[in-house]
Amino acid sequence: MLPLRMLGLLMLCSFLLCDADSTCPTERNPLVLDPPEIIEEYGNSVLVNCSTTFEKHDGMYWRAGNQSFDTEKNESVVSKLVELLDWNLKFECKVKLNDSLECSEELKVTVYKNPEVLLFVKHMDAAAEETQYDLQCDISNVAPVQKLSVRWYKNNKTIRNDSFKSTTETPENKSSVLVVNISRIENVAHLRCEAQLDFGPDGPQLPVISQTLNISSYYAPEFNTKNETDEIVVYKGENITLTCEAEGNPAPVIHWSGDGLNIPEDSNNLTITRINASSNYTCTASNYLGNITKQIRVHVIQMSTEALIATPTPNAPTTRAERCPLTLTPSEIVVRFGDPVSINCRTSVTDAAGIGWEATVGGTGFQLKSTNLTWEVEKLEEWDFDASCYITLKNGTQFWLRPNITLYQTPDTVSVSALDHGLMLEDTQTQLKCNIHNVAPVQKLEVKWYRDNKTVSTQIFNDFKVTPVNVSSTMTFTPLRGHNGSIFRCKAELHLGPKGPEVLPTVTSAPYTAVVYYKPLIKGCPSSYTTAEHKFSLDMLHCETDGNPPSMVQWYYKGELVNSSKHLTRNDSGTYTAVAENVFGRSNASVYITVEYKPSFTCNDSYVLEVNEKLQTCEPEGLPPPTLIWFKEGKMMASPLHWTKHDSGEYLLKADNTHGTAEHKLYVNVLYAPEFKEENKTKVVILSENATLDCSAEGNPLPEVQWKYTAAVNVIKSTVGRQKIITVTGATSTNAGVYICVATNKFGNVTRSVTLVIQGKTNQIRSVVIWGLLVILAILIIFILHFFIRCIRCWFGVFAAGSSVAAGVVFDPLGGLYTAPPLL
Ligand SMILES: *[C@@H]1O[C@H](CO)[C@@H](O)[C@H](O)[C@H]1NC(C)=O
Ligand SMILES: *[C@@H]1O[C@H](CO)[C@@H](O)[C@H](O)[C@H]1NC(C)=O
Ligand SMILES: *[C@@H]1O[C@H](CO)[C@@H](O)[C@H](O)[C@H]1NC(C)=O
Ligand SMILES: *[C@@H]1O[C@H](CO)[C@@H](O)[C@H](O)[C@H]1NC(C)=O
Ligand SMILES: *[C@@H]1O[C@H](CO)[C@@H](O)[C@H](O)[C@H]1NC(C)=O
Ligand SMILES: *[C@@H]1O[C@H](CO)[C@@H](O)[C@H](O)[C@H]1NC(C)=O
Ligand SMILES: *[C@@H]1O[C@H](CO)[C@@H](O)[C@H](O)[C@H]1NC(C)=O
Ligand SMILES: *[C@@H]1O[C@H](CO)[C@@H](O)[C@H](O)[C@H]1NC(C)=O
Repeated sequence: MLPLRMLGLLMLCSFLLCDADSTCPTERNPLVLDPPEIIEEYGNSVLVNCSTTFEKHDGMYWRAGNQSFDTEKNESVVSKLVELLDWNLKFECKVKLNDSLECSEELKVTVYKNPEVLLFVKHMDAAAEETQYDLQCDISNVAPVQKLSVRWYKNNKTIRNDSFKSTTETPENKSSVLVVNISRIENVAHLRCEAQLDFGPDGPQLPVISQTLNISSYYAPEFNTKNETDEIVVYKGENITLTCEAEGNPAPVIHWSGDGLNIPEDSNNLTITRINASSNYTCTASNYLGNITKQIRVHVIQMSTEALIATPTPNAPTTRAERCPLTLTPSEIVVRFGDPVSINCRTSVTDAAGIGWEATVGGTGFQLKSTNLTWEVEKLEEWDFDASCYITLKNGTQFWLRPNITLYQTPDTVSVSALDHGLMLEDTQTQLKCNIHNVAPVQKLEVKWYRDNKTVSTQIFNDFKVTPVNVSSTMTFTPLRGHNGSIFRCKAELHLGPKGPEVLPTVTSAPYTAVVYYKPLIKGCPSSYTTAEHKFSLDMLHCETDGNPPSMVQWYYKGELVNSSKHLTRNDSGTYTAVAENVFGRSNASVYITVEYKPSFTCNDSYVLEVNEKLQTCEPEGLPPPTLIWFKEGKMMASPLHWTKHDSGEYLLKADNTHGTAEHKLYVNVLYAPEFKEENKTKVVILSENATLDCSAEGNPLPEVQWKYTAAVNVIKSTVGRQKIITVTGATSTNAGVYICVATNKFGNVTRSVTLVIQGKTNQIRSVVIWGLLVILAILIIFILHFFIRCIRCWFGVFAAGSSVAAGVVFDPLGGLYTAPPLL
């Protein structure tokens, strides 16, 4: 055995002396550092121990960069406080083995600097649906950059992870930019960035987290309702609240104005108390991204409207025509105001002294010796004119004749106006007025009213007036809802008779469009509707409303307002009420909605039944009620109403309706009382033989089988499978008796008996003897009979043939040849 020291020397030899290159051994580290590696933040210091595994050395020391520290000769450990004040200083522990060989171990040093992180919005761009943000995360004063990862979080979820390439070990500044869109649906998102130096799982975990920015989507105001104009009808004296609900980010500022004047109100609601006149209100919602306005027209109506019917008063026209020897051509004329007129006056009398025209305009004076004179006016522009032709006879008699001149003027304007701001309510009498300015003569005027090009009324005027007048015609009528949008016109016609112009002088008003307000009616709603589940919402029903102002249908179910866009499910069948309402009233319609759905089973997977018991319902649900088919072992079958003991097993139920199919597997276990397969019986066993009695029974649950018998040492019970067996070994007379097998389950018990009979061995022998004797007896009887018959023949032969006996041969009358028996 080699001494230990020797072994040490040998090892030393193998490591040091025998090394051909005389370098430090590589198999075993001659120096051990504790800790072997340091990862520390710049400025910190760590104590590192360096120990050698060599028993002998010429000195140990630390070296940092170019500087060596104190050498220890007699210690096997040197310590060093490593101060991390340099980014790439090299630390080594060295051991001197002899003059020419030195081993060293470098300390792995990672100096880092945790950064400062600053997150800010660099740029923001608000568009209609999205706001795009450019976010910048500045990571300053970080080293080493190649270990840096910058993670972006949106609502606590990582959305990006940035890393950086670099070779420097000294601190640097980095930044990461994230472009993110915040949609209007998202509204607000929480963003942050995190900078972390990643030194692996064992390294320090020191993430630097930025503050969280809550950025939101910005958009210009929008109204919640689409229509830009609202029409509101209220009764005079009511209080109303106008609403103007706009969304926007930043929240919009609301301004109100009424008939062009600003109203000091900046909330969504404007309340007007005791309104007394129709007005137009405007609300403006604005933020720095834009503004929108909405018009609200408020019509104020009065409940009582008084009829205002103009009744032209009759005034008979005065006419004067004298029979005289004068002829006017034409005698009757219709002239438009301002048109030229000329009338000739002639007489046929011979004794006329002269003729003349006396007129307020264009008078001729008396013309001596003339019998023919014309009155001419270039422009008849006088309403109160008068013109007469006269003659003076030589005897001094005068005759006067005035021509029948009708001066007319078509109206300057004809216009239709309405009472009450033109507000027409269904079934409420209202009036339209036709204003006719400057028409003459009023007695020739006929005013016709038209609704949608059909004449609805005509009015004439009984006033008599030569000069132009302003008149009006009032049409009273009761608007119906169908009149909404109807166009009314009035036409002023001058009926000037046969002498008048061929074309009637006519002026027609501009069209007046009636706006009739009426309560909504619901149209087109079916009284019942059948649909499939999840496919139908109430707003798919064609229930339209006809009302003015228009209103939407709202749906109620059991008195509660329901969301009409929600899809109905199987539990939603029932009567729904559509309600439409405006300021003039409401109406409703009921629809019975049947929501059908495909079949499904809710019953159990297995059932336990007793024989003849009925199955608890396993009826499928579904609408329309599904048809149900039973399958057993793949075969279609009638649904079992009464369950027999053979019906246990797995069933497949298939339910089917127009909306689909459902399957259900069902295990049915039919329970029944025990039953034996074998009947009672008697079993005979020979004494000292072995006997086996077995008993098994059917039943569900499997019955418990028990034998009942008189116990004996040679009777053993055993169980083989479901059979209960009794073995009698070497039966004795005491084993004889009745053995009862009882099968029991919770539905009852049945018994079966086996009577065991033991037969002695002696009996057997006796019967064998008896049988033997009987056989012998039978043989004897046959022998005797045989002998007896022979003797009889023998005797017959002696008495019948005599001598032939001597020959010893006897002819047998029965045909047999008998040899003479030997003498007895
Ligand atoms: C120092 O040790 C090396 C290797 O063990 C050997 O090669 C060298 O000769 C030794 N030098 C001295 C001076 O002992
Ligand atoms: C994100 O996480 C922080 C802390 O884990 C928690 O306080 C904050 O509520 C979370 N924010 C969201 C939007 O989940
Ligand atoms: C943000 O939205 C703009 C315009 O809608 C689109 O061009 C851009 O690609 C989106 N940016 C991101 C990061 O989804
Ligand atoms: C309208 O408002 C005024 C003042 O608030 C109140 O006195 C009045 O009773 C209200 N009228 C109606 C019809 O509500
Ligand atoms: C209507 O109301 C306004 C202000 O409320 C008031 O100045 C005006 O006199 C009222 N007009 C009538 C006819 O009552
Ligand atoms: C003028 O003529 C019209 C139409 O023919 C007639 O109705 C009227 O009575 C006449 N007037 C006189 C004064 O004759
Ligand atoms: C008819 O009305 C117009 C305008 O209102 C007026 O200028 C004119 O004087 C009126 N004419 C008569 C005859 O009243
Ligand atoms: C009766 O059973 C016993 C024990 O099992 C056996 O040793 C014997 O031989 C059997 N006797 C007959 C006659 O089978």
